[in-house]
Amino acid sequence: MKLPFALARRFVAGETLDAALPALGALLDDGLFVTLDLLGEHVADRDRAGAAADAYADLVGRLAGLRDERGVPADAVGISIKLSMLGQVIDRDLCEQNLREVLTSARDADLFVRLDMEGSDLTQSTLDLFEAVYPDFPDHVGPVLQAYLHRTDADVARMVELQARVRLCKGAYGEPASIAYQDMPTIRWHFRRLARTLLDDGRYPGIATHDDQLIEAVRQHVEQHDIDRDAFEFQMLYGLRPETQRQIVRDGYRMRVYVPYGTEWLPYYSRRLRERRENVTFILRNLVRA
Ligand code: FDA
Repeated sequence: MKLPFALARRFVAGETLDAALPALGALLDDGLFVTLDLLGEHVADRDRAGAAADAYADLVGRLAGLRDERGVPADAVGISIKLSMLGQVIDRDLCEQNLREVLTSARDADLFVRLDMEGSDLTQSTLDLFEAVYPDFPDHVGPVLQAYLHRTDADVARMVELQARVRLCKGAYGEPASIAYQDMPTIRWHFRRLARTLLDDGRYPGIATHDDQLIEAVRQHVEQHDIDRDAFEFQMLYGLRPETQRQIVRDGYRMRVYVPYGTEWLPYYSRRLRERRENVTFILRNLVRA
């Protein structure tokens, strides 16, 4: 059964790029930066992985056009991609080839590509692919690291060494206690520590969270250490805390909104529902109203 898109509308900007453009324009008008995610994951077919790479390369061209028309800063518009959509689970070399196709168009258009991080079965392979392409695209690609994984201390140290641009998030996949911290205070404690390292020694980190405690900790750290407000950015998801997103910009910080679109919204949407009870309540209230 295909669920109606109306269900996902709060978190997903549209089923096509054209449908998502008004939401995108509104964010840019309010001084927010964006990263676009063409939804999809775990492609098991070589042709579909190639088609996804072509679709991303087209998206890069269209977004660069939009950015230039609007005269927003080069870095205001980027894309986020999942390597599992480019063939990561079928054939590593195919995935690297597809990734290079996307990165070549991104470099030509001066647009940044974030490699989203998926479940722990793909962490090492995602970071390996990142390191394989990074020397050729040092200004246009960066990974995501998840604070809940035990391994992330070492991964942060490596990215600092490489001076790669990292997005730090808590982590959205159910992972076992053998490899991931499980309780919120511990995850927050690690997030704070890792964020401080990236802010002090890393290169333009993205601090991706809706959590007031963490946002406040980062704000205090940068104030106390005189870190430039343009030397990092906060990041939040489309549809979550839109007022807070704008307030953070009014306070003089950068805020990038992760804007997903596309027909394959169900796995993304399910992760958002799992994260917070309020998200489920919001959807149910709107269904009753509809
Ligand atoms: P969390 O849901 O843990 O909530 C903590 C506290 O924050 C709450 O108690 C409340 O105080 C406040 N809060 C949260 N949401 C709120 C709301 N809607 N309204 C009011 N208060 C709220 N994950 C991953 O595994 N791989 C990835 O590549 C990415 N990419 C990514 C990009 C971006 C831009 C973001 C923001 C997040 C991701 N994530 C991700 C998801 C991330 O790992 C995590 O699952 C979610 O961000 C949820 O964790 P938070 O820290 O945002 O708040």
